[in-house]
Amino acid sequence: MTSRAFGWMGQCIPFRDGETVASALETAGVYTLGADALGQETRYFCGIGACQCCLVRIDGVVREACITPARSEMTVETMEVRRD
Ligand code: FES
Repeated sequence: MTSRAFGWMGQCIPFRDGETVASALETAGVYTLGADALGQETRYFCGIGACQCCLVRIDGVVREACITPARSEMTVETMEVRRD
């Protein structure tokens, strides 16, 4: 089994082949993925791409972490990261 890693908010998150971004983050102990418009924490919930609770920015593009396969060298950030 090959183990690789991607970046999350300055951390290096390892993942296994076939694992999603959300799965790798949870395995690494990252449960809070961001905050909604009311400031409530957003977390992995449905796991099938339906609820939008796991939206993150992957290489600058908004995606559902629960259905996006992890790839080496990708950069994953919360939605709150500003791009000025
Ligand atoms: S956890 Fe529901 S869309 Fe990802």
